[in-house]
Amino acid sequence: MPERADIVLDGWGSDGLGAVAALIDRASPVDRFPLDQLREAVFEDMDFDRALLIAAWANGALAGAIAGVRRGERGHAKLFAVAPEWRRRGIGSRLLGELEDRLGQRGARTCRIFHDAPYYLRPGVDFRLTDMVSMLERRGYEQKHAACNMVVDLTHARLDTSEAEVSLATRGIVIRRLEHGDRDRLAVAAMSPNWRVEVARSFRRAPISTHIALQGDAIVAFATHSVSGPAQFGPMQTDPSLRGLGIGALLLRRCLADLRSAGFPRCDIQWVGPKGFYADHVGARIDRCFWQYEKALAPS
Ligand SMILES: CC(C)(COP(=O)(O)OP(=O)(O)OC[C@H]1O[C@@H](n2cnc3c(N)ncnc32)[C@H](O)[C@@H]1OP(=O)(O)O)[C@@H](O)C(=O)NCCC(=O)NCCS
Repeated sequence: MPERADIVLDGWGSDGLGAVAALIDRASPVDRFPLDQLREAVFEDMDFDRALLIAAWANGALAGAIAGVRRGERGHAKLFAVAPEWRRRGIGSRLLGELEDRLGQRGARTCRIFHDAPYYLRPGVDFRLTDMVSMLERRGYEQKHAACNMVVDLTHARLDTSEAEVSLATRGIVIRRLEHGDRDRLAVAAMSPNWRVEVARSFRRAPISTHIALQGDAIVAFATHSVSGPAQFGPMQTDPSLRGLGIGALLLRRCLADLRSAGFPRCDIQWVGPKGFYADHVGARIDRCFWQYEKALAPS
């Protein structure tokens, strides 16, 4: 077996994406990312920085890869994998150490593992990734928060919204799909900057994968799907003054109906907030759980 001296770190780019996707497929028992999803998450990230894509080569073959992104003072690993046959040789440590150094040189004060919204692949480290969890804790990462996904069985969910839409219309609330002409409305809608980016990404889907509620000219609620991967739901939000009228449940159902018509048997609700809401309205069940790791970077 080759020694550690045979490992060379180098950059990688869009021409290496297929090899990185194949590496993740082999490295992770639980993650499969379509190429388009990886391409969008890595190369179309608004903070994309080519210098934060690092590959480890062993005797000319790809043995490991990491991609990072810096959002202000926060650095993130976006994806990270070492081939099974090259584990426990220090490759993961070298990749992560190099990423931490480069993030620090660019002004990041912390490094987080995944949860790099709004262009993220995973809301954290799947708690079943024992090797990853062991390695991160060994390197001084602390688990700060947790997140979970829920799953909805689309074959059984009741998704009709026609009656509820008529009832909301009597209150002056119009429900419809987001349209390209809504860009100005979206720009002033009350929502977090990250969610605005995610909703804006739904303009690229055909049909646009956001449904909205309008009161007058204002977008007062939205629900989005298919921006963080196929058959993924989220984010969604209803203006606090209009909660309790059933608007959120209705928009959620419209999104799930899109996914069912596209042929998906199930949907993942990503990085869930109100678990009871999804369980009540569409029978969602808690599925994958993620730990959100973070480490302070030494000042450079
Ligand atoms: C996490 C991962 C990148 C680590 O790669 P690696 O090259 O094996 O890591 P290192 O050799 O640098 O390990 C460093 C330390 O982490 C700890 N560690 C790593 N794997 C471990 C394991 N299986 N059990 C216990 N500790 C472990 C050890 O302390 C190790 O040091 P040691 O070997 O001197 O004891 C690799 O296990 C991996 O690719 N996992 C799957 C990643 C994945 O699922 N990615 C998908 C999302 S993008």
